[in-house]
Amino acid sequence: MKHLYDCFLGEKRTSVYLARQVDDIIETIKASQKIALWVCDSTTTNFLAVPEINKVVLESGEISKKWDSVEQICAAAVRLRMGRDGVVIGFGGGVVCDIAGFAASMYMRGCSLALVPTTLLAMVDASLGGKTAIDIFGIKNLVGSFYPARHLYLCPPLLSSLPVKEFINGLGEVIKHALLSPDSRLMELLETKKNKILSLDTMVLQELVIASLEVKRRYIESDPREEIGLRAMLNLGHTFAHALETVGNLFSWSHGEAVAWGTVKALQAGVALRVTDEPYAHRAIAVFESYGFDIHHRVKETKRFLEALEGDKKRSGSSIRFVIMQTQGKGTLQHLDQSLIISII
Ligand SMILES: NC(=O)c1ccc[n+]([C@@H]2O[C@H](COP(=O)([O-])OP(=O)(O)OC[C@H]3O[C@@H](n4cnc5c(N)ncnc54)[C@H](O)[C@@H]3O)[C@@H](O)[C@H]2O)c1
Repeated sequence: MKHLYDCFLGEKRTSVYLARQVDDIIETIKASQKIALWVCDSTTTNFLAVPEINKVVLESGEISKKWDSVEQICAAAVRLRMGRDGVVIGFGGGVVCDIAGFAASMYMRGCSLALVPTTLLAMVDASLGGKTAIDIFGIKNLVGSFYPARHLYLCPPLLSSLPVKEFINGLGEVIKHALLSPDSRLMELLETKKNKILSLDTMVLQELVIASLEVKRRYIESDPREEIGLRAMLNLGHTFAHALETVGNLFSWSHGEAVAWGTVKALQAGVALRVTDEPYAHRAIAVFESYGFDIHHRVKETKRFLEALEGDKKRSGSSIRFVIMQTQGKGTLQHLDQSLIISII
């Protein structure tokens, strides 16, 4: 197991490791001699050879981000007689990482948390940064906590079983990170290694995951609590994406596909305002296109789309502020006129 780096969110430290196989992670947790409770879902349980008593298996998908799952985890921890010195390990996609993190932050007012992300989205996004959440009253991520994992284990070979749809979902965030990176290395990797990326070549995926997570690390370390506007840059494309997901009733578009479309809309808006460097925008749009994202989709229900934008919880005051990129790694938060929005969607 290779120690990659420590990520600091204020005083909280997440140590990030690269593992070649899941067994190495299991052995490391065993060696810590802590009581361990693994949280997985009905898919990822198949990749996890630990005793049943040490496992909570949740239903796969967003449906599990609920109080009941938190109770299930706490009940299993009590059965194990786990104290605050025990460790909850989330082994799954973003859903499992979010619930395991939330439960760990609640159990005995906070026990140790480790995460083993198993989807591309969770490896490059959900597993680092300390945000945990469950959905209640039908509202996504309504209740949560800030609780960074103490240990994060990246194991890219786990991606080999990921369905294409889930892989593409994560890729939308990776391309977004490439735009936010201070240099163009991640973009070059996406451009030059497309075939290897799409054929899930382990070595190239390893490079991709590490480079993408590094971009997120850079933003969250400089603004852990989203107070000075830097962490907000990670919302690039998300305001447009949320409105598209709402109009599509949350089922027609995967989140990554919506983020890809939304990022392209933000780039087009930036170019129209002469804020975004044109060659930079065109290069990014070409990369989204080359991976097959539907970036030319035209919204037919304009009124509903605008209403959904209004409802976006990230609005500040009465106006919604969009992340608009200037050039590689440099963005700004900006209000957009309704007429411009209508013309680009
Ligand atoms: N906390 C954060 O900062 C943050 C950031 C982004 C997203 N999220 C959250 O992440 C969630 C979405 O995460 P997701 O896209 O990973 O979804 P997910 O966790 O539902 O996983 C998607 C599907 O892939 C399956 N799966 C997981 N690993 C697999 C593997 N290795 N092989 C085969 N199948 C596998 C799962 O069982 C599931 O069916 C959302 O709830 C979102 O709110 C959180």
